[in-house]
Amino acid sequence: MVAKTDERTLEASGIRVQFEGVKAVDGVDLHLGAGEILGLIGPNGAGKTTLVNVLSGFQAPTEGSVTMGDQPVTGWSPQRLARHGLVRTFQAVRLFGRLTVLENVEAGGVAGGLSLRKARRRAAELLEQFGLTDRADLDAASLPLGEERLLGVARAMASGPQILLLDEPAAGLNETEGDELLAALTAIRDRHGCSLLVIEHDMRFMMRLCERMQVLDAGRTISIGTPEHVRTDPAVLTAYLGTGREVRDAEG
Ligand SMILES: Nc1ncnc2c1ncn2[C@@H]1O[C@H](COP(=O)(O)OP(=O)(O)OP(=O)(O)O)[C@@H](O)[C@H]1O
Ligand SMILES: [Mg+2]
Repeated sequence: MVAKTDERTLEASGIRVQFEGVKAVDGVDLHLGAGEILGLIGPNGAGKTTLVNVLSGFQAPTEGSVTMGDQPVTGWSPQRLARHGLVRTFQAVRLFGRLTVLENVEAGGVAGGLSLRKARRRAAELLEQFGLTDRADLDAASLPLGEERLLGVARAMASGPQILLLDEPAAGLNETEGDELLAALTAIRDRHGCSLLVIEHDMRFMMRLCERMQVLDAGRTISIGTPEHVRTDPAVLTAYLGTGREVRDAEG
C-alpha cells in the first residue's frame, strides 16, 4: 500500500502575491504538519493575512502552489476548500448578528455541506464543548467579545474541518478571555486532531499556544522554529524595532 500523505497537512511553496506596486507576499514557503499548531507572526503589513488569503482560496497567488495532503489545491475556491476540510476565520469577526448563537453554528455546518439535521447535532455538541450551551438562544450580537470569538471558532468548526486558519483570534481580548480561547484552540487540536495555523500579535498568547512559529517581514520569511528560538532571534528583534510592538515581553 502506498502511504497517503495526511490530509491535515498543508504545504505552500514559493507563494508570491503582487498588488499594484506592492509585493505583499514575496516567495514564502509554509509547512503545516498534521495536528500541528503553527503560529504566523510579523509586524503590521508583513503579509500574514495575504498569505492566509491564498491558503484559504480568497486570493489567487501571482506565483506558487498549495497542496493539502496529496491534493494540489492552488486556485480552489474557499467553498471547495471548505468541503475538503480547510476553513478560516477572519481578522474582523463576521458573525450573523441577527441569528442566535446556535443558528450561527448551524449555518456554518450547512454552508460547509452538512444536512440541517447533522448541522444541528454538531452545533449543539460544539456549543457544549465551548461552554456556550446556556447562550444558545441569545442573539449572537449580544455576546461579550470573548464569547463572540469562541462562537466564531465554533462556527468555523461546524462543518468538521481538518485544517483551521485563524486570523488574529485573540485581538482585543482581556487576559481571562484570551486564556479561554487558548484552551478552546488547544482542545480543538487535542480532541479533533485538527491542524491549526494562527496569526496573532499577542506574543504571550502565541508562546503558550504554538509548537512552532514562522515570522514574516515585508513579504518574506525571516525566522522559523520553536517559540523560544523565534523570540530571541536577532532578525526578529530587528524587524519589530520601532513598530511599537514587543516580541520579548512574552515570558511565561
Ligand atoms: N487588496 C490589496 N490591495 C493592495 N495592497 C494590499 C491589499 N491587501 C494587502 N495589501 C498590502 O499588502 C501588504 C501586506 O498586507 P497584509 O494585510 O497581508 O499584512 P498583515 O501581515 O496581515 O498585517 P496586519 O498585522 O496589520 O494585519 C501591506 O503592504 C498591505 O497594504
Ligand atoms: Mg493581517
